[in-house]
Amino acid sequence: MRTHKCGELNKENLGEAVELCGWVHRRRDHGGVIFIDLRDRAGLVQVVFNPESEETFALAESVRSEYVLRVEGVVRDRLEGTVNSNMATGEVEVLVHHIEVLNESETPPFPIESDIEVNEEMRLRYRYIDLRKTAMLRNMTMRRDVTRNVRNFLDAQDFFEMETPILTKATPEGARDYIVPSRTHPNNFFALPQSPQLYKQLLMIAGMDKYYQIVRCFRDEDLRADRQPEFTQLDIETSFMNEDKIMAVMEDMMRGLFKDVIDVDLGDKFPQMTYAEAMSRFGSDKPDLRIPLELVDIAEEMKDVDFKVFSGPANDPKGRVAALRVPKGSSLSRKDIDVYTKFVSIYGARGLAYIKVNDRDAGIDGLQSPIVKFAPAEVWEAVLEKTGAQTGDLIFFGADKTNIVNEALGALRVKIGLDLDLLEGEWKPLWVIDFPMFEWDEKGQRWNAIHHPFTAPSCTEEELKANPGAALSRAYDLVLNGTEVGGGSIRINKTAMQSTVLDILGIGEQEANDKFGFLLEALKYGCPPHGGMAYGLDRLVMLMTGSSSIREVIAFPKTQSAACPLVDAPAIVNEAQLKELNIKHHKIVKDEVSAQ
Ligand code: AMO
Ligand code: AMP
Repeated sequence: MRTHKCGELNKENLGEAVELCGWVHRRRDHGGVIFIDLRDRAGLVQVVFNPESEETFALAESVRSEYVLRVEGVVRDRLEGTVNSNMATGEVEVLVHHIEVLNESETPPFPIESDIEVNEEMRLRYRYIDLRKTAMLRNMTMRRDVTRNVRNFLDAQDFFEMETPILTKATPEGARDYIVPSRTHPNNFFALPQSPQLYKQLLMIAGMDKYYQIVRCFRDEDLRADRQPEFTQLDIETSFMNEDKIMAVMEDMMRGLFKDVIDVDLGDKFPQMTYAEAMSRFGSDKPDLRIPLELVDIAEEMKDVDFKVFSGPANDPKGRVAALRVPKGSSLSRKDIDVYTKFVSIYGARGLAYIKVNDRDAGIDGLQSPIVKFAPAEVWEAVLEKTGAQTGDLIFFGADKTNIVNEALGALRVKIGLDLDLLEGEWKPLWVIDFPMFEWDEKGQRWNAIHHPFTAPSCTEEELKANPGAALSRAYDLVLNGTEVGGGSIRINKTAMQSTVLDILGIGEQEANDKFGFLLEALKYGCPPHGGMAYGLDRLVMLMTGSSSIREVIAFPKTQSAACPLVDAPAIVNEAQLKELNIKHHKIVKDEVSAQ
């Protein structure tokens, strides 16, 4: 049907007879000449129709946006002054002598290229049109480049690409499961995998040595810009490598990926930071290191002040009082500060105290703040000293339970960094290591695994049992510009340790056997030391394309409410199908629907 792609033509094709297929991107009628920008995956080219060839011209006059055409013509130079330097094919055009309309198109629900904001529901409903946009094609191309690049790297390193089941049993990664009823086993359900975690461990036990898979994972959780109910992991597992070796291989892969695909140098060795340091300095386990702002502990200084808001948390072992210095922040207005106060309240902060440092050399007299009066001059001097405050700076304060202060000031740090344009450098990767094994769930009065229950601790079984709260894990997260792009760990490879961890998590013997009996049993048959990690492929591509949401890099994503407006899923299933599955509807009363 065609000899070339539209976007491929250039001066080297001058004088050639070509046949092209594509969509009508734009049609312009100019004093008896018709110009059409014809578009295919490779790009646009201008095709020209002269009135001399009457039939062809008449047909060209009848075509509308998004019609699909086939044209035959000759490549020629564009007239002087009409060269379009914005177009890859902008130096040439095709003079058409034959046109075929392969298909007509109704007027699209929104223009393909325009600055008009189209609501996302609409974009997703007509995704096949949305994907025609240059920006979307660019994102899909980069996604293809990324998967191709990591496949090449891992294949060259002798990793085995293997598939694991989608119809399976629950894998605990902290979200709700999507479940699928079984017809052949009435009242029984499959769970879609939250990750292939347990299968990849079984593959190591099977001796597969090095595995990878680009795999769909399913998690029924609250959706955000960087979360989808089904998303893609680049999932990796190896035997006989410790965490240093695994991280080194992963760094090599990432360096190559960024260099090859977006020509970015990620630097030699990625820095590593313990979880404890990340929380203390940045209030987050995924700090954006491009932002040069840090939290500073001032509990010591605030223990004896009259201001209960500060002295309370300062004397509470579960409390934190921290300061965040904003260089040149004293230019922030009352209104800006109100906006930030409202912002931190989202994270449970009950206020946002601040001090403007109008004159650092004037001591307490140089400070402007409603809270200066609550503490003596030497306390403020110590705070100024500790934070490194200078004239013209502003210091924000958070005082509350540690997790509230961390979340509130951690998020504020990022917001201010972006608002005040403080970002330094473009790409800042970071390994976060030494995570705690468990976190205490106050509500449920139980320990939860921070990574997943198959992660090895860095202490002995006895130490783990004696003080679960103090145990660290052999887990590592890869953070890039404040986004967790991947995470992994060395796994438990002995039955006794695995049972101990499940026990600490409050999973009794019976439940452990029901849920993970197959793993506990497999661990008995020569399980090698092993570990690995999984990347959120969508998140990686989101960062590499500079997109604001992972929906921009997924061909057919779900909406914020986990639905697909294009095929209209999820949908009601007919009674016969339900009967076959032995499932009965529970009538949803109106109140229940509105409560959902
Ligand atoms: P984890 O749960 O940290 O680890 O997931 C690995 C990576 O997957 C991405 N990710 C998501 N991306 C989009 N939407 C989601 N809902 C979503 N949830 C997670 C993140 C995350 O870093 N089995 C372990 C890995 C291992 O230990 O090897 C696991 O799944 O980028
Ligand atoms: P108040 O005495 O409650 O008016 O608070 C004085 C200042 O402290 C105000 O700027 C409040 O925003 C701030 N503030 C109140 N509670 C907290 C808190 N938990 N952490 C930080 N600042 C607070």
